[in-house]
Amino acid sequence: MTHKLLAIGASSSRKSINRALAVWAANQFDAQVDDVDLNDFEMPIYSEDRQAESGIPSLAQDFKNKIKACDGIIISFAEHNGSYTAAFKNIIDWVSVIEKDLWEQKPMLLMATSPGKRGGKTLLELAVSDFPHRGGKVHSHFVLPSFYATFDRGIKDPVLKMEFEAASSVFEKALIGMETD
Ligand SMILES: Cc1cc2nc3c(=O)[nH]c(=O)nc-3n(C[C@H](O)[C@H](O)[C@H](O)COP(=O)(O)O)c2cc1C
Repeated sequence: MTHKLLAIGASSSRKSINRALAVWAANQFDAQVDDVDLNDFEMPIYSEDRQAESGIPSLAQDFKNKIKACDGIIISFAEHNGSYTAAFKNIIDWVSVIEKDLWEQKPMLLMATSPGKRGGKTLLELAVSDFPHRGGKVHSHFVLPSFYATFDRGIKDPVLKMEFEAASSVFEKALIGMETD
C-alpha cells in the first residue's frame, strides 16, 4: 500500500538543506510525498493576546489538516542557535492551540542536518524527547553531519547511509503496523 507522508524541512530557507533531506528521505519509501514549504504557512508571531483578539489563522488549520491526512511524518530540523527555526516554532505554536494532540499520534522519523560537524544534534535531541509529549510517535531519528560533504542526491558516507537505513526501516515497520491496527 502506498503511504501518504508529510515531508517537512523545518526551515523557511528557499535553499533549505533540511527540506532537501526530508524530501529525499520520504522518497525512499513507497509513498505519496507532500513536500511542505513553511513559507506557505507564514503567520503573525503567536501570542495569547493575538489569539484572543483575532482567533487562530486559517493557515494553522490548513497545516493541522495536513497532519490529519497523512500516514506518517518526516521532519528534518534546521538548528538556529540551538533551537527550532522561528518559522517552524511559530507554526507549531499556532497549531498546538487548535487541539492538544498536536502531531495526532502519527509515526515520525525525525532528522537534522547542518553544514557543521554536529549536524543539528542539540536540537534533534530536544525534539526527540519533547515530541512524544505533543502527540508525536517518534519511532526513529537520524542526524546527518557536514551536509555538503556527506550528501549529494543521497547519503554518500557509507556509515551514515547504514545509520539512515536502520532508522528508516524502524519507521517503515511502524507505518506498516498502522495498516494492521
Ligand atoms: C540565525 C542562524 C543560527 C544558526 N544556528 C545554528 C546552530 O545553532 N547550530 C547549527 O548546527 N547550525 C546553525 N546555523 C547554521 C545552519 O545550520 C545552516 O544555515 C543550515 O543550512 C540551516 O539549514 P537549512 O538550510 O535547512 O535552513 C545557524 C544559521 C543561522 C542563519
